[in-house]
Amino acid sequence: MSGTDCHLSLGPFQGITDAPFRNVFKRHFGGIDKFYTPFFTGIHKEEHAKNLQGEEIDPKFNDVETLTPQILSTDAEEILRFAKQCKQLGYKEINLNMGCPFPRVANKKRGCGLLPYPDMVEAMLDRVFEEIDIKFSVKCRLGYFSPDEIEAIIPIFNKFPLSELIIHPRIGKQLYKGEADVERFKRLIPYINAPLVYNGDVFSVNGFGRIRNAVLPMNRFMLGRGLLTNPFLAEEIRGGAWNAPERTERLHAYVIDLYKDRLRHAGGSPKVLGRMKELWSYLMYSFEKPQNVWRKIKKINALREYEEAVEEVFKSIELGF
Ligand SMILES: Cc1cc2nc3c(=O)[nH]c(=O)nc-3n(C[C@H](O)[C@H](O)[C@H](O)COP(=O)(O)O)c2cc1C
Repeated sequence: MSGTDCHLSLGPFQGITDAPFRNVFKRHFGGIDKFYTPFFTGIHKEEHAKNLQGEEIDPKFNDVETLTPQILSTDAEEILRFAKQCKQLGYKEINLNMGCPFPRVANKKRGCGLLPYPDMVEAMLDRVFEEIDIKFSVKCRLGYFSPDEIEAIIPIFNKFPLSELIIHPRIGKQLYKGEADVERFKRLIPYINAPLVYNGDVFSVNGFGRIRNAVLPMNRFMLGRGLLTNPFLAEEIRGGAWNAPERTERLHAYVIDLYKDRLRHAGGSPKVLGRMKELWSYLMYSFEKPQNVWRKIKKINALREYEEAVEEVFKSIELGF
């Protein structure tokens, strides 16, 4: 099933999908209608919080129409500060992260760690919706300890005019293990008032088609690791097709452009290698021999070596799809 009539977004990835990534990605690939920033935290000051002044959020470097800033917080006052400042910058929507599964976050009842506590969620949203004057969406999982947790949370979400509810159908304790539970997601659809977005395990056009068929007539999807691995994925879902030389050339140009852009931002510091390697830990699966690719990239810590290794990868290892 084609996704020409679908709305596709790219999920946020802390440490990967920052402003340079989003801008370079858009120069090289299409198919994505909406982006989200990786989560912000620590919005302490009433006005002009320091971490809301950089390139990551500055409208000079971002399209306020298609980018939604995300916050990780359980403090309604902090969420309201974030909303106010994002609105002043021209953004139309903010997103609350209730999905982060990492123990250092979730153990503090943040991210998906809030899902077992419906009363806390309700008190937080009651306060947020008293005052918020910008669209407010939520991204969550099915639960932290159990996939049943969401059943107590849905009636709370339904009390409020969420602009969007994105659900990744795993529980926090799974991290990324096992599979996204499409069947359980499907059973929730009739009970949710907010415009619903499916997120999880879309790795190929066929995989997308299977999920799309299962959740019809829903047509809003958030791509994640699948798009980091294969940046053509959103275009392919929309019917695009390219031969191997074209793909190799486009992928090569994208990887080089992203590296150069990151390097320019970092004033030439080899710190950029960390973020490039993080991307390669997904991108390697675009190649026929992922482990050979990873072996060449993973240990590098000098810019020159990295540049040589990338050229070698593109010369010697074929793309896998
Ligand atoms: C390293 C890493 C960082 C992530 N950072 C964020 C984040 O900042 N905010 C968020 O909502 N989700 C974050 N996610 C979750 C993804 O956006 C997405 O929901 C998840 O990968 C599931 O979708 P997928 O199966 O299509 O990859 C992150 C995931 C990973 C692996």
